[in-house]
Amino acid sequence: MERKILLKNIAVPGIRTFEVFRSTGGYRSVEKALKAMSPDEVVEEVKKSGLRGRGGAGFPAGMKWGFIDKKSDKPRYLICNADESEPGTFKDRYLMEKIPHLLIEGMICSCYALGAKTGYIYVRGEYKYIIGILNEAIREAYANGFLGNNILGSSYSLDIHVHSGAGAYICGEETAMIESLEGKRGNPRIKPPFPAVVGLYGGPTVVNNVETLANIGFIVNNGGTEYARYGSGKSTGTKLISACGNINNPGVYEIELGLSVREFLFEPQYCGGIKNNKKLKAVIAGGSSVPILPANLILQTASGEERLFTYESLADGGFVSGTMLGSGGFIVYDEDACIVRNTWNLSRFYHHESCGQCSPCREGTGWMENVLHRIEHGQGRTKDIDLLVSIAAKIEGNTICPLGDAAAWPVASAIRHFRHEFEEHVLHPERCGH
Ligand SMILES: Cc1cc2nc3c(=O)[nH]c(=O)nc-3n(C[C@H](O)[C@H](O)[C@H](O)COP(=O)(O)O)c2cc1C
Repeated sequence: MERKILLKNIAVPGIRTFEVFRSTGGYRSVEKALKAMSPDEVVEEVKKSGLRGRGGAGFPAGMKWGFIDKKSDKPRYLICNADESEPGTFKDRYLMEKIPHLLIEGMICSCYALGAKTGYIYVRGEYKYIIGILNEAIREAYANGFLGNNILGSSYSLDIHVHSGAGAYICGEETAMIESLEGKRGNPRIKPPFPAVVGLYGGPTVVNNVETLANIGFIVNNGGTEYARYGSGKSTGTKLISACGNINNPGVYEIELGLSVREFLFEPQYCGGIKNNKKLKAVIAGGSSVPILPANLILQTASGEERLFTYESLADGGFVSGTMLGSGGFIVYDEDACIVRNTWNLSRFYHHESCGQCSPCREGTGWMENVLHRIEHGQGRTKDIDLLVSIAAKIEGNTICPLGDAAAWPVASAIRHFRHEFEEHVLHPERCGH
């Protein structure tokens, strides 16, 4: 039986309400932290847990918290990144919709650890109904003394506000999110300074993903060492995976890190195999921004090892034959899927969402979309394929924020692994439906 941390009580009727959540042991971590732990002790436990950010980059949460500038006299902030706009990723929505108090509980412990008296949840604008659910959970937390002045009679006070995004993927990037919260256009900032030193309104700020923060209650209750017993090696804990595409059981799953990708794809308690008994063609394992892998490489690394859901195993082989855990958006393509059409579609997304601040991204994403459009529509030229590789290489690493990389990698990896499909589209468009 798989061990769960986040979704353990998901099936308890009424778990969305404070009363039921509390009856399952909810908010105990807040009592423990405020009554028996110093803020630094909470940070220490998070460091011990090995928890890595679940928003995509996988940065160790405790280490990030340790960077907070304690010398600054400005107020500190915690921002929960609930923007979740990465194609294929829908796990934060599930968590917030089903068990919102898990996030609020984690945020209270995190704000306490960081010395923040204000926390924000920046929610993707399209998740309008989630905003209502979060506001209700926050109202209940205030009503029961877990938010507001002198929480549980302690000297610690905290307010949490929900802020709605306005439909821009770029506002999921942490510094763009800070700009947006300040009421400005969501353009990423140049780093350094990092938000932990100069963040929201100039104050030291930590931005963490919903799922990252939802783990904090467990870590405070049970200790970082216990958390690190979940998972495999340096990939500690569990991970929410949102699975979609040509599979029998799309949905959100909590897996223990270390599970084999093959088991996740084919076992009935997870994806349940490829729909209509088709063959597996490819998988994007961690949200649309990570490299796509063909069937053979997603199931096994190039050196013949079973591919596992760990940061290390998915990255094995670098960008030649590996990928990334990313945000956990697991998109599956069967043998009939057209990789060219899919790549063109993704390139439209990234071009549309580029904030336009950096020329390589602003211009390059548009060129990639144009070239992919003509290949997909039967007007491609052989040299277009290498032209795409060259544009992608010129975007990668040359922008203020990683949106440029996120736009380049899907194109570069699709051509790396499926060049024959691009060539077929150029040389025999009639065979590709044109
Ligand atoms: C274009 C872009 C979009 C992003 N969108 C999200 C998002 O929707 N949710 C998220 O948690 N992180 C997103 N990130 C990553 C954040 O910048 C940041 O690394 C993350 O919120 C840190 O939280 P974590 O350490 O808990 O993962 C995005 C990054 C980029 C470059």
